Amino acid sequence: METKEQRYERLLPQVAALCDGEHDFIAKMANVSALLHHEFNFWWTGFYRVVSGQWSVVSDATQDGGSPLPTDHCPLPTKELVLGPFQGPLACVHIGYGRGVCGTAWKERRTVVVPDVEEFPGHIACSSESRSEIVVPVFRNEEVIAVLDIDSRDLNTFDDTDACYLERLVALMS
Ligand code: SME
Repeated sequence: METKEQRYERLLPQVAALCDGEHDFIAKMANVSALLHHEFNFWWTGFYRVVSGQWSVVSDATQDGGSPLPTDHCPLPTKELVLGPFQGPLACVHIGYGRGVCGTAWKERRTVVVPDVEEFPGHIACSSESRSEIVVPVFRNEEVIAVLDIDSRDLNTFDDTDACYLERLVALMS
């Protein structure tokens, strides 16, 4: 029987082939989530994209009535994670910066391995079936453009091996 390492080693060239010459990031996220999901039989496998969300006003100043002053302020788009291609049950659509496991991986620019979701403060439970989770940031030009999120119905599914291979795998996508 194949080890986890052997499975990932087999998937890496497949992901490289899927992404080679393909410029559409959504298509790549769709194929990579399907490939991983069916290979490992995960509970939920998918991507959240960093997207410009609601506009916020930089100045705190307000005029009578509380609305922001129209002068000397510059609206800036706030960014958030928005659901992308995935495999598995329905999931929440918007996740804020630093929120949940996904927002934490984005903010801290690192892979987050959660052996038991009930032990992770602020974990966002899209499905009550999920017991452990890994979230891997996807970088382009050193900026996080998306996160890969994988949920398992078992505790302690993910470890440093998954983190290492999934980081190599998403590096092929951007
Ligand atoms: N559990 C994630 C939310 C996404 S779902 O698992 C698909 C989190 O805490 O960010």
